[in-house]
Amino acid sequence: MSATTRTLTLTDNETGKSMELPVLSGTIGPDVVDVRKVYGELGYFTYDPGYGSTGSCSSKITYIDGEEGILQYRGYPIQQLAESSNFLEVAYLILWGELPTQAEYDKFQYSISHHTLLNEQIITFFRGFRRDSHPMAVMCGVVGALSAFYHDHLDMSDPEDRRIASYRLISKMPTIAAHAYKYSQGQPFVYPKNDYGYTENLLHMTFATPCEDYKVTKVQAKALDRLFLLHADHEQNASTSTVRLAGSSGANPFACIAAGIASLWGPAHGGANEAVLTMLNEIGTKDHIPEYIKRAKDHDDPFRLMGFGHRVYKNYDPRAKIIQESCYEVLDELGMHDDPLLQLAMELERIALEDDYFISHKLYPNVDFYSGIIYRAMGFPPSMFTALFATARTVGWIAQWGEMLTDPEARIGRPRQLFTGAAERNYTPIDKR
Ligand code: CMC
Repeated sequence: MSATTRTLTLTDNETGKSMELPVLSGTIGPDVVDVRKVYGELGYFTYDPGYGSTGSCSSKITYIDGEEGILQYRGYPIQQLAESSNFLEVAYLILWGELPTQAEYDKFQYSISHHTLLNEQIITFFRGFRRDSHPMAVMCGVVGALSAFYHDHLDMSDPEDRRIASYRLISKMPTIAAHAYKYSQGQPFVYPKNDYGYTENLLHMTFATPCEDYKVTKVQAKALDRLFLLHADHEQNASTSTVRLAGSSGANPFACIAAGIASLWGPAHGGANEAVLTMLNEIGTKDHIPEYIKRAKDHDDPFRLMGFGHRVYKNYDPRAKIIQESCYEVLDELGMHDDPLLQLAMELERIALEDDYFISHKLYPNVDFYSGIIYRAMGFPPSMFTALFATARTVGWIAQWGEMLTDPEARIGRPRQLFTGAAERNYTPIDKR
C-alpha cells in the first residue's frame, strides 16, 4: 500500500472547517480514501452499514474485480489454479504467499496429513450433541472446543505457535466435518488414513464404515479437491471479517474459526449452497420456474433466488463457471447426466439470465448455485454442504487471521455507530409508568 499525491478535501459547510484526506493505492483495484483522522480532526464518524464502500484492512492474499468477474489468489488467476493446481498447493500459496517447491509441498502435505487425528476426548464431546444436530452446529462447538485441547501452543505472538495452530485446524477440519456426519447417521466414526489425499480422506471418513471400505473414484476426489480450491479464500467476506474481528482482540485461533463457521452458516453466505437445493426441490419441475422467478422479483415477498447475486460480483462469478464444468464431469462419471435437479438448475439459470430484472440488477449465479448438485451426487446430504464449504474456507480464514496478527496497522476492531435511540432521560419508578 502506498500513499498517492492525491487527496480529497472534506469540508464542513456549517463550520467551514476542512481537511485533506490522503488517497492510498494498492497494487490493483480502486484507490481508497484514508478516513482514519476524520473523527480526530472534524469530529465525524463515517457511516457505511454493510461496508459496501469500506476497506477494513489491507491484504495481500486475494484480489477480486467484481465488475470483470476476476478472482486471484496471490496474483494467480483462479482459472489457472483450478486447471493446474490442487487444494493443498493452493492452501500453501494462500498461507505463505508463494507456490511451494516440490520439497516444500511434500513437507506441507506430510504435516497436514499427519495432524488429522482428533484427541480421543473430543470424540466424547461429539456424543453430547443430539443425533439430529445440524453439522454446522456441531462444527461450531467442536472447533471452539479445540482450544481446550490444544493450549500447548497458543502464544499468538510466536510465529511457530501460529503455524502449528493453523496446520492443526486445516488438518482436523475434514475429520470434524466427517465425524459430524457419522454422528448424525448413528454410525461409528471412521478414523483418517494418512496416506490418503486431503479430499480423498474426507470422502473415506464420511462414507466408509468399519465393515466396508469406500472406493473413492479419481473424478470424485478431483471434483471435491477443485471445489475446495475454489472455496479456499474470498477476501473480506462476512465470515472472514468475523474471523478477523474476533482475532483482533487477541482471541485464540480455534475460537476465531468457530466464529467464522457461525457467520458462514447464514443462508445469505455459505448456507446458500444448502438453501439452493431446498429451493430446487421446492420448485420441483420446470413449469414452476416462472412462478419462483416472479416471487424473486417481488419486493414484498422475502423469497430470493438462492445461489444468485453477490455483493462484489456484478458479473458471472468465475467460480460458478468452473463448478458448472465439474458438475457435468461428476454427474457423467456417476451416470447421472440426466439428473433432473441439474436440468432444473440449468433451466432456472437460463430463464433468470434472460430476465430484465436479473439483467438490470446484475444478478448472476454464484459459487453456491451448482456446488450442492455435485455434493449431492457424491452422496452428501444437504446439511453437510455448508460444512464442506467451512472445511475449505478454513485455509482462507486462518491465512487472513495470521496476516492480521502481523500487520503493524491492525488494531482491535471497534466500529462506531450512528446512535438513533432515546437521548438522556430520567428513570421513572415502576408504579409511575
Ligand atoms: N434474488 C432476487 N433479488 C435479488 C437477489 C436474489 N438472489 N440478490 C439480490 N437481489 C436484489 C435485491 O432485492 C436488491 O434489489 P433492489 O435494488 O431492487 O432493492 C438488489 O438485488 C441488491 O440486493 P442487496 O441485498 O442489496 O445486495 P447485497 O450485496 O446486500 O446482497 C447477497 C448480496 C449475496 C446477500 C444477495 O444477492 C442474496 O441474498 N443472494 C441469495 C443468497 C446467496 O446466494 N448467497 C451466496 C452468496 S455467494 C457465496 C458466499 O458468500 O458464501
